[in-house]
Amino acid sequence: MIDFIEVNNNSASAKIALQGAHVFHYARKGEKPILWLSEVSDFEVGKAIRGGVPICWPSFGMNNPDLPQHGFARTSEFKHLATNELDANTTEVILILRYSKETLALWPYKFELELKITVSDKLTMQLSTTNLDNKTFKITQALHTYFDISHISDARVKGLDKKPYLDALTSEELTQNGDIIFEKEVDRVYQEVSSEIMLKDKDRTIHIKNEGSSSVVVWNPWIQKCKRMSAMRDEAYNDFICIETANAFDDFKLVEPAKTHTLKAMIY
Ligand code: BG6
Repeated sequence: MIDFIEVNNNSASAKIALQGAHVFHYARKGEKPILWLSEVSDFEVGKAIRGGVPICWPSFGMNNPDLPQHGFARTSEFKHLATNELDANTTEVILILRYSKETLALWPYKFELELKITVSDKLTMQLSTTNLDNKTFKITQALHTYFDISHISDARVKGLDKKPYLDALTSEELTQNGDIIFEKEVDRVYQEVSSEIMLKDKDRTIHIKNEGSSSVVVWNPWIQKCKRMSAMRDEAYNDFICIETANAFDDFKLVEPAKTHTLKAMIY
């Protein structure tokens, strides 16, 4: 079992694992959770939790083939810097990961990575990368959010109409036409995204507003891939959609010495 922080205030509750600074539960008071969490995720040291919001950093997917898929942050132990009760409805939790002998062996740069999580009637996550080295480095990254849905056939993603995307399954560059509906495996990197995205479910609509990012990944593994996925029931593809706040592919970031880049997602 891994250590986690529990937040409970007048407007919401959340649970955040120190491993990976991984938010694995968020719900507004009296409402069902917004984040999906696999019932069969084992919460083991060194293994990413399946569900919630894994942090993919300093490389998204296999953008850097020298690193593990989605980088090493999601399995690294973060330090709990502070929990601040800003008011009865708002709690802020700050976690950091600094370079170490282990990270330098994987990725040869000195850095500080901070995740500031604000739990209120919105869930806000701000992931800040500071370059502590004397050379510029390149990152690709994502707040890889798993959203809980009533059923895949009831859910659609709005707000990406006319956006160009890379279909990661076929490597084709295509353009979105209308809402995204799910009738097969979907693994797409949308580009040039600057406005709000909506996940419309049977009885609620979740809004996602991103900053410091122009790429958004939309992913559902569907039947066959779901069977091959770790820590996921065979039928779990019915229960979640990932909408990932990203800096992926052409939306990579170069972080110069002493500079900070912040990727922000606001969910409500
Ligand atoms: C998504 C990718 O971001 O993450 C998918 O687009 C991938 O291709 C998924 O399968 C889950 O990755 P992982 O490493 O957590 O199993």
